[in-house]
Amino acid sequence: MKIAMGCDHGGIHLKEHIKKYLMGKGIEVIDHGTYTEDSCDYPDYAAKLCKDITSGVSGAERGILVCGTGIGISIAANKCKGIRAALCADVFSAKMSREHNNANVLCLGERTTGVGLAEMIVDAWLETEFAGGRHARRVEKIMDLEKACD
Ligand code: RB5
Repeated sequence: MKIAMGCDHGGIHLKEHIKKYLMGKGIEVIDHGTYTEDSCDYPDYAAKLCKDITSGVSGAERGILVCGTGIGISIAANKCKGIRAALCADVFSAKMSREHNNANVLCLGERTTGVGLAEMIVDAWLETEFAGGRHARRVEKIMDLEKACD
């Protein structure tokens, strides 16, 4: 499995922690930065990761983004065509974001979610498959909004 990751300065410690956590499980991580604690703009890193996912360039089909709260970076990611980003601060939401919404990007907040919980959220999100069926119709309608609200 290949997972793309990205963050701003507010999410760098959690991004680094989750990156090591995933690599320890044998998961390949494509790290789109940021790589330092220097102040930067989260939409830039959301864009880098989302372009990777939608272009298929690295082969990562899903990604994880982190900022201080996870809010800004999830709003930015959801502006990118083909992206369904879910900000999750609990395990149940992480599961549902996959099962019902087929989220292809998970967003986390370093200042809101501790590392232990973040690991559990990531595990649940990676392990849960999309349920399809009636949810597929709804997800299609979400994607249609990209054209309808142009
Ligand atoms: C950066 O200070 C902070 O605003 C950012 O990481 C994020 O929390 C925005 O939503």
